[in-house]
Amino acid sequence: WLEEQVAQCGYCQAGQIMSAVALLDEVANPSDADIDNAMGGNLCRCGTYPKIRSAIKKAAALKTAGL
Ligand code: FES
Repeated sequence: WLEEQVAQCGYCQAGQIMSAVALLDEVANPSDADIDNAMGGNLCRCGTYPKIRSAIKKAAALKTAGL
């Protein structure tokens, strides 16, 4: 999350991260659609959605690699 510099104002980030962790507990290698579906309940007024998607994919790869 930090490497992708997802957060801007930070207001939505707690919910975004909780949803991302819950997604990765359920889906090891989420697709864009999986991510969009899982994150749908969190609105980001700063429009960080592309960075959120990148951060989740990077976290999924690290988790799959056991890191
Ligand atoms: S980072 Fe500002 S609302 Fe999401």
